[in-house]
Amino acid sequence: MDSLNLGIIGGGLMGRELVSAAARWCHLTQMEVAMRVVGVCDTQDEVLKWHARNLPTDACITSDYRRLLADPRVQAVYVAVPHHLHREIYCAAIEAGKHLMGEKPFGIDLEANAAILACLRQHPEVIARCSSEFPFFPAVQRIARMIDAEEFGRILEVTAQFLHSSDLDPLKPINWKRQARFNGQYGCMGDLGLHVCHVPLRAGWTPRNVRAILSKVVEQRPDGHGGMSACDTWDNATLLCESSDPASGTTFPTVYKMQRIAPGERNTWSIEIKGLKACARFSTKNPKRLEVLRYAGGEQSWQQVDTGQETAFPTITGGIFEFGFSDAILQMWAAFADEISQGKARSRFSACVLPEETAWTHRLFTAALESHRRGTTEPVAPA
Ligand SMILES: NC(=O)c1ccc[n+]([C@@H]2O[C@H](COP(=O)([O-])OP(=O)(O)OC[C@H]3O[C@@H](n4cnc5c(N)ncnc54)[C@H](O)[C@@H]3O)[C@@H](O)[C@H]2O)c1
Repeated sequence: MDSLNLGIIGGGLMGRELVSAAARWCHLTQMEVAMRVVGVCDTQDEVLKWHARNLPTDACITSDYRRLLADPRVQAVYVAVPHHLHREIYCAAIEAGKHLMGEKPFGIDLEANAAILACLRQHPEVIARCSSEFPFFPAVQRIARMIDAEEFGRILEVTAQFLHSSDLDPLKPINWKRQARFNGQYGCMGDLGLHVCHVPLRAGWTPRNVRAILSKVVEQRPDGHGGMSACDTWDNATLLCESSDPASGTTFPTVYKMQRIAPGERNTWSIEIKGLKACARFSTKNPKRLEVLRYAGGEQSWQQVDTGQETAFPTITGGIFEFGFSDAILQMWAAFADEISQGKARSRFSACVLPEETAWTHRLFTAALESHRRGTTEPVAPA
């Protein structure tokens, strides 16, 4: 296979990011597969107009996803729609035999996620992955290599956070992401949670139990028509988990924080891993800075390293230059296309999230809802 033809279902914020990533595929230097967007489906005319301006003239532009799925040119689809539509559209794509890049939370709830995974089991020929781009930042790729080489020693603690201030303004009009019937009961966990779980889950540090504290901060928002609408999703979530490390057979605390109302944070994804031999931390607030502390007796000092374009998939950009959000999106798509064309991922951390990993997040968030409701520590159901 030398090209992968993609269709997009849901051409909004994330659908446009894919069109942009595909348009600069020439940025990648060592790909054996090219990725092309050959069609898009959205229910809003304005969105379709943007795509019509930016896609080839023979692209399939439609408001009916079934038409896109029936287009024989489409080999894979990216489905980036509100969460209540995940189950129906992901399953339709899988049943049509299209490879799937889904979006988180990969089903609005545990039941929808289980139905999507059951559908995938019926169609083993389909490769399905879930979008999550932050691990492709070069500093996180370095941390990943430290995990692979077991440089941390016994894991003492992991903190993974995704903090926004996008909802700090109580007068920001409501949209589907603030309404449980479209976004789901998980609220901010469904929106931000998979991003914080990706690296720990891929490392094998699965949570055994959880104590969650969830907050609804803004309960009503302007509806855009002069009235107010109930904003019934969780704004902020803090989860304290006991996770197990298969390498050492020990357990350790993991803190997951997902917040839409985090003053001072615009869009900050971060991870800190503390081990007996080494610690590392990274935050997108300082996107090229990696901090590492190695301890072998003697002084304990954090080292600050400026990372450059040390990407999982090499690019034309000079090694000294900065890396950003849209670069991470391009890397993630490179990982998806490469895995489909080569039949396997290049490495553990240069790969997209597996459906089974989304199932872990659903079990975690379902237990977190129960933990908050009862004020107790709840077990996270094993796979
Ligand atoms: N990976 C990331 O960093 C990231 C960031 C934001 C959102 N997301 C996820 O992406 C998905 C979409 O979020 P978004 O921010 O792009 O939302 P969005 O509202 O910007 O876009 C969703 C699009 O889906 C369209 N749509 C709705 N119903 C449809 C239907 N029946 N058929 C076709 N199109 C339909 C809407 O018209 C809209 O254009 C969600 O699952 C969200 O959690 C991921």
